[in-house]
Amino acid sequence: MSRSLPAPPESGVLNALRFGTGTARFLEGVQARFEDGTAIPIPGRAPLVVLTNPELVGEALDRPDTFRRVPAQGAAAMIAQNGLVQSEGDLWSQQRSVMAPAFGGRQVTAYANATGRRVHDRAAEWADAGDHETDLHREMTSITLRVASETILGEDIGAERADRFHGWMRAAGEEFEFGLETVLPDWVPNAVSPEFEAAAAGIRGLSEDLIEKRRAALAAGEAPDRPDMLTMLLRREDDPEVEYPENQIRDEVATFLIAGHETTALSLTYALSLLSWHPEARRRVRAEARATLGEGPPTRDDLASLEYTKRVYREALRLYSPAWAVFRRADGDAELGGYRIADGSAVIMPLWTIHRDGRYFEDPETFDPDRWTRTTPNETAAYRPFSSGPHACVGQGFALAGATLVLARLTREFDIDVPEDALDDLRLTPTLRPADGVSATVAPAATADRTGPRASR
Ligand code: HEM
Repeated sequence: MSRSLPAPPESGVLNALRFGTGTARFLEGVQARFEDGTAIPIPGRAPLVVLTNPELVGEALDRPDTFRRVPAQGAAAMIAQNGLVQSEGDLWSQQRSVMAPAFGGRQVTAYANATGRRVHDRAAEWADAGDHETDLHREMTSITLRVASETILGEDIGAERADRFHGWMRAAGEEFEFGLETVLPDWVPNAVSPEFEAAAAGIRGLSEDLIEKRRAALAAGEAPDRPDMLTMLLRREDDPEVEYPENQIRDEVATFLIAGHETTALSLTYALSLLSWHPEARRRVRAEARATLGEGPPTRDDLASLEYTKRVYREALRLYSPAWAVFRRADGDAELGGYRIADGSAVIMPLWTIHRDGRYFEDPETFDPDRWTRTTPNETAAYRPFSSGPHACVGQGFALAGATLVLARLTREFDIDVPEDALDDLRLTPTLRPADGVSATVAPAATADRTGPRASR
């Protein structure tokens, strides 16, 4: 016999208000109070279910026909309605298989090496600039967005367009920030800001531009030697077995422009901030990078010797998971781990609080990269920065390879210092974003640390 998940004793209205006005604090309270999860009645809406137990999270993620992704609606649909991050069922499965070859081993190598070149060039510019201040989030966005556009979409969009994109993402972040609107009854209209409208139009326009250029290049017989994802999509347009709804390719390009860079940029911003606050970890990353990296840009071949740096990145993804939660909606009345979940329930799986729960991680608030010598991500059900199940992140291999090289290359040469309170004001949008950038000082690392090849262009 299944039972209901417990509800908090407070009234539904009060919980809705608490969720809407202080989502992170609310979820931390829920994580501490409920072993498996809670179902919160929300006036005028289906209940809000928060799962706090990683076993239940894993089960829900493995059942995409029952716990469905929430379709893009309203503002989100203005950017992309049906990209791989939003689509469901047959369309999702067709798209995932059309694109799968764009994420295999050779593509990971291409992505890692492109990241190596991009960060190496940026490091040379930083070295020329001497001691300076910068916005780390903007910097990391520029690196990851340019690499994503080059390797996934076949064209580096360049520094200027990357900067404009950063502004669009900020407007989108403000639009999608969790707040009271999130829990208002469905009939309350939700206006979109003019800044967001402009950002959505900008992202759609850039996507169309990239598609047009690539289509023209292919028509002129200029096939890339290593087909990128956009080329693969365009080549299947005439395939009778593949059916694209209207705007499908534009939706995929817009989706990958965002999904292909944003979380990686955020994770790097957080990892570099953590290194700035943990000098011993920074010293170890630097020593490893100096012993491993050569004079030229770092490459995928270097990864095998960057074990400590990988642990640092893994640990940063635990403490500051850029995807702070995964969302689903129950399609029909369902049972999950012996609990009844009502039809239409919004299901939130808060990676942020599960990753910091003492039941699953020893000393959960401590930044301890070496915890990953005592266990592995595969053995740790509570560790899910890339989600799991059929919708698990398709770009995980890209992110792990590229980010490790960025951390190693920059830490080898620079002291990047971030104020202690820089991450105190993080906003819950679909990702976890700093409210107003992360300002950092950049200075050449002390020469006493230099134990390997000197940094060079
Ligand atoms: C640190 C970096 C990254 C993190 C933390 C991250 C996280 C995630 C998470 C949690 C999901 C699952 C969402 C869900 O279950 O609903 C996801 C899905 C996805 N990610 Fe990532 N991601 C990262 C990097 C990337 C990159 C580099 C790409 C593209 C190359 C990418 C493309 C996607 C796509 C297309 C999906 C949807 C997959 C599907 O439903 O088939 N991600 N990501």
